[in-house]
Amino acid sequence: MKRIIIDADTGVDDSLAILYALRSPNFHVEGITTCFGNNNAEQSADNSLRLIKLSGCGYEVPVAVGANESLEGVFESAPAFIHGDNGIGNVELPESSQKPLEESASDFIIRKAEELKGELIIITTGRMTNLALALRKDPKLPGKVKKVVSMGGTLNAPGNITPYAEANIYGDAMAADIVFKAGFNLMLAGLDVTMKTFITDRDVENLCTYCLEECRPIAGYIKDVLKFYFEFHRVSMGMANACVVHDPLAVLIAEDPSLGMFKMVRAGVEYENEAFKGMIKTDNGFVPDLDREEIAVCVEVDSVKAVRRLFSVFQDMTPGRYNKS
Ligand code: BDR
Ligand code: CA
Repeated sequence: MKRIIIDADTGVDDSLAILYALRSPNFHVEGITTCFGNNNAEQSADNSLRLIKLSGCGYEVPVAVGANESLEGVFESAPAFIHGDNGIGNVELPESSQKPLEESASDFIIRKAEELKGELIIITTGRMTNLALALRKDPKLPGKVKKVVSMGGTLNAPGNITPYAEANIYGDAMAADIVFKAGFNLMLAGLDVTMKTFITDRDVENLCTYCLEECRPIAGYIKDVLKFYFEFHRVSMGMANACVVHDPLAVLIAEDPSLGMFKMVRAGVEYENEAFKGMIKTDNGFVPDLDREEIAVCVEVDSVKAVRRLFSVFQDMTPGRYNKS
């Protein structure tokens, strides 16, 4: 059982990642911390609370609100046409009676790292601001957590916010640079693999047909939220009835790293030069810095297996019942 915190800017793809983690028998979600990005941090917390309720996970999952601006004081939220006005494709999920903790996201991360004595895995699906703030308060944090797995960055794929940068890393490039160099056991699932992994309407149909009775409301939510997200992919990328898979890949790789192939690099993030802001600089070409810990960047992934696994936790997997196509 892997004990995880998900640090999210709870938008459409974050919500799939969260629902998967809450239903997977291999995870215990110790908490969800939130950050600005697809929403402000309060909206991300509200979405997370609604998703916990929807998941029916059967245990308590605390939610802590985090940063509403980058370390440099910038708030930039994603345009509503990507994630909707509420971050979850304008789908109205039932409200939760659970309230967010009084404790900040960074304090919560530090406390859980202490409590779990080296067992904690932190999965970030948004900006790395909360983690950088936690590091400022506790520089020994990297030695206290098992691993950090992040959706973010790109080595060779084109950026999705500038030609060189991925949105989560760009959104707080200074925080990412701090986290990259801090000595965490860090794995990245970035655009090199997320842009090659697709959910299609066929997957959604299968999910709805073969979902477990208790997961019907989850399947209904996924169908609705992906309808919105598919439309964004149609308009911006010309994709018909499909979307790429960003945040769920970080969770899937945290659960089972054998889904991917990794390249070890020593890396930093550009944050001073505006044109290249958010670009990952590696020892391959830009920054030969041999004192620094290596990070593992996922460069190949078994996308078909990943997507099948993503939906498997909501489905009846009895042999013969599940449509294998
Ligand atoms: C990342 O940006 C956000 O919009 C998504 O939720 C994902 O985390 C992809 O670049
Ligand atoms: Ca995200």
